[in-house]
Amino acid sequence: MSAHSLDEHLDAHRRRVEDALAAALPDAEPAAGCPERLASAMRYSVLGGGKRLRPVLCLMAAEACGAGWSDAMAPAVALELVHAYSLIHDDLPAMDDDDLRRGRPTCHKAFDEATAILAGDGLLTLAFGLVAGGVKPAESAVECVRLLAEAAGPSGMVGGQMADLQAEERSAEGADGSAAELEAIHRRKTGALLRAPLEMGAVVAGAPAEERRALAAYGRAVGLAFQIVDDLLDVVGEEAKLGKRVGKDSGHGKWTYPRFLGVEGSRARARRSADEAVAALAPLGGRGDRLRELALALLEREY
Ligand code: IPE
Ligand code: IPE
Ligand code: MG
Ligand code: MG
Ligand code: MG
Repeated sequence: MSAHSLDEHLDAHRRRVEDALAAALPDAEPAAGCPERLASAMRYSVLGGGKRLRPVLCLMAAEACGAGWSDAMAPAVALELVHAYSLIHDDLPAMDDDDLRRGRPTCHKAFDEATAILAGDGLLTLAFGLVAGGVKPAESAVECVRLLAEAAGPSGMVGGQMADLQAEERSAEGADGSAAELEAIHRRKTGALLRAPLEMGAVVAGAPAEERRALAAYGRAVGLAFQIVDDLLDVVGEEAKLGKRVGKDSGHGKWTYPRFLGVEGSRARARRSADEAVAALAPLGGRGDRLRELALALLEREY
């Protein structure tokens, strides 16, 4: 590992991702048939900040398997586009009904609901095209498309979002759930799209099966820890740092970790998951050091 600190490494990767995202999105010129309003909404939601965790994980996974980060840029960009789409739709009035995202009005507030729905659709579709055309060889592209579809689809993020809304309805009817049921929601709604970057990074690097399995296990554990911390930040975080409203989850009757385990219990659960992530990287030896450090750093995040 080079002498660069984790923060410097993450910042460098974030800058590369920002450039690649800007290049991948349609221009606000009505070129090639994309209406200007649609292009503007897509650019607004993708280029308006964000930690870029999913693409950075993808680049770091490729590096941990001995490849260069640039080999993983197409799937990395695609993951962030799918994530941005999921946030646009998550914020819609029919879902979490939020007006603030990444410190700015949500897409449907800045534009309108129909434009926000279509911007999400556009990002999702664009993402698959980028993976299909940007990953070589073709077998790796097919495998990355499959992984992205699985993570984003009805048994992954979309399924988790459905289950999240159904849990909210059950709360409204006076029923309560359990931490075990909540874990199954979080693993899909957030976990799936955090595990996929690790596997896609391994695929583009042509990593042996053991390394791919190790990275997948790491991603699975980091994914759960990440959403537990997201739930915690809704309770203990600051709106100015988060760039999104706080206290919304209990207002909506959402199932969250603090609801079932309390704040300290949730912190302990997140810590256990991050420790699992660290342990999973054993087969990578020293090449996993940065990812190990990142898993623990994510427990302390404030946004
Ligand atoms: C927020 O994701 C929604 C969740 C899935 C928890 P992030 O916390 O990664 O949001 P950005 O991309 O940094 O805005
Ligand atoms: C979002 O979970 C998960 C997805 C967008 C798929 P949340 O609803 O908790 O995310 P925030 O808190 O609005 O960012
Ligand atoms: Mg939600
Ligand atoms: Mg939400
Ligand atoms: Mg949340």
